[in-house]
Order: sequence, then C-alpha cells, then structure tokens
Amino acid sequence: MVVGAGIIGLASAWRAAERGLSVLVLERDVEGAGASGVAAGMLAPVTEALFGEEPLLRLNLESGRMWESFDGELREASGGLPTHRDSKGALVLAADRDDAEELRRLHAFQRELGLDTEWLSGRECRRLEPGLSPRVPGGILAPHESQVDPAATVTALAAALEHAGGEIRRGEAAAELLHDGEHVQGVRTGSGATVESEHVLLAAGCWSAQLARVPPEALPPVRPVKGQILSLHSRGGEPLIRRMVHTPRCYMVARPDGRVVIGATVEERGFDTAVTADGVYRLLEAAWEVLPDIGELEFVGAQTGLRPGTPDNAPVIGAAGPDGLLVATGHYRNGVLLAPITAEAIAALAAGDEPPAQVAPFSPARFGAVAGGAR
Ligand code: GLY
Repeated sequence: MVVGAGIIGLASAWRAAERGLSVLVLERDVEGAGASGVAAGMLAPVTEALFGEEPLLRLNLESGRMWESFDGELREASGGLPTHRDSKGALVLAADRDDAEELRRLHAFQRELGLDTEWLSGRECRRLEPGLSPRVPGGILAPHESQVDPAATVTALAAALEHAGGEIRRGEAAAELLHDGEHVQGVRTGSGATVESEHVLLAAGCWSAQLARVPPEALPPVRPVKGQILSLHSRGGEPLIRRMVHTPRCYMVARPDGRVVIGATVEERGFDTAVTADGVYRLLEAAWEVLPDIGELEFVGAQTGLRPGTPDNAPVIGAAGPDGLLVATGHYRNGVLLAPITAEAIAALAAGDEPPAQVAPFSPARFGAVAGGAR
C-alpha cells in the first residue's frame, strides 16, 4: 500500500504493480493535489546543483538519465498519455555584474564536477533567446536539461498504475500506521477502516510525518518549504522563451500550450500556503529584469506548494522502522526529477531486490540528533 498519490507515490506504485505486486494508493484528496500539482517540472540536475551537494547531484544525474526510458515506458503503459517532455536545455542568466561573478564561480564548480555546461556572453545568450534584456551580461548554458509538465505526468502515472492493475482510493486519508513493533500490518484510515498490507510506503511529502504511530526512528525530520509559483499566458505570437531560463532569483518554464510558469520562492513558513503580494512581486521583478516582455503576458494566477525538505536537502528513500515500512519523501526541489530512480528503488525493495546503487539505504544517523524531531 502507498500513502500519497503525488508523483513519487504514483511512480513507485506503478513500478511495483508492473512487478506483479498488488498495489493500493490511499490519497486524502486527488492525485497531484500536493507539491506535485504546483511543481514546475524541471528535470535539471545540472542547473539545480549547489556547492556541497555532490552526493545528491549523483542521484539527480542518474534519475535524469533514467527519465528518457521512463517517459517512453510511461507513455506506452498509460495508453499514449504524454508528459510533454522537452529537452531543449536551460540557460542560467546573470541580470547584472554581481550575478555574473556568482555564476562564474558556479560554472567553475560545474566544470570541476565534469558537468556539461558552457559560459556564454550576453550576446550569445540573446542569440539563443532573443527576448532577453540587453543588460544581461552572460550566463551558463546547460544544453541537456529537460522539463515535463507535472500535471500531465501525474495523469499519465495514474492511468499507467490503473492499467497495471493498481487502485487509487481518492478522498481516503491514512490516519494511523498499524504495526506490532516488528512488522507493518497496514493502516487505519480517516474513516476508521483497517486496510491490511505487508508493505506500507509513506510518500506523503511534507505530511509524511503526520501519520500516527510511525516510529520516530523511521522518519527524517521532513519539513514543509513553501514555494510560490506564478502562471502567465502568452497572447499569441512567438513563444517568449524556448528553453528553461533561471536567474539567481527565479526560473521560467514555457509550456506547449503557451503558459509560462515563474517560480519559485523558498520560504520557511510551516504549513502556511498563502499567496503573498511580496512573493508575487519578487518573482515578477526577478523575471522582468532578464525578460522585460514578461510584463506583456496575461497574469493567470499564483499557487503555493509545500516541498518536503530534509536537513541535507536529499531525499529519504528506503526501508525504515518496522519490517515492511518503506519511506520515499524529502525530495525537496527535485521530486519530479527523482521520480524514476525513487520508483525503481521502492519497487525493487518491495519485491525483495536490490535498489539502484545511487540510492543509499536510509539510516537515522544521517540526521544525527535531529532525526525524528519534526513531528
Ligand atoms: N525545483 C524547483 C523548485 O523547487 O522550486
């Protein structure tokens, strides 16, 4: 059984069902109602790589490689539903000289790690993206980054899971983990029903820690990290951008239907999901400084998602606590990117096989004294 029908829960459930396991997903709302429904869908291991996160980078790169076959298999298994995967690459732009200094250091770090990136002058950036401001002094081209549409991906995963014989129970929350201290027995739902299962996968994002009677050592101190994201719409004509565009303060992703998504704030506000004037203003300003024509687009709306963050920004994927309990949470900024490798690992573990080598077994010692602290 899987708790949570976000991209991580659904992908894991689909892969497990493909292995012949009988799979039920409990979702308190509808699929993709949490962070997956707000995600921008960047498959961007290179442009999201930060200083000091090299082990996470290896995991991200491997999952990025897996996305190509994952996408093809998902399309087939879902009866032809697209994820709208597009691999035109990404540009990380400086808006001024200070940004350029920062990005030069980032580029040197990327090159040290052997990542395929190139420094471009402002003129070279504008040749790739003609809408860029003449003030952009330069940036980094990461030619192999991709993107998908997360909403379309959720729809395809749900269909693939159901075609493989899995079931999604919508509007059914898991309230309590049932176990005898040694073995998992199932969950009690919000309506008081008992659903028995030898395996329970907790994949409820930043809400994973809210299930009652999960042993403290089973969970990382996963916390909500608020992200506000804006949706705008082009009004005909040429697309505003062809590839993903980042700056140190925002990113922009164009969808095939003419929408442009601008993300995202990173805020420590607990479970607050308010869209704020400050968040909208800062994102628009950050986008406008490199792409002034953004001001001409129709403003469609703003949403908030809660990323599941861990102290080291890396996910927790694997067995934890009593026998049969599996956890897949803490994917923070990389949930969509990490879906293929997480699903592969979880399905392998549920079937008694080895997970991919890049997925380290979870040990509560990873978070030292803070493990189990965020209840
Ligand atoms: N991966 C982008 C974000 O979390 O905002």
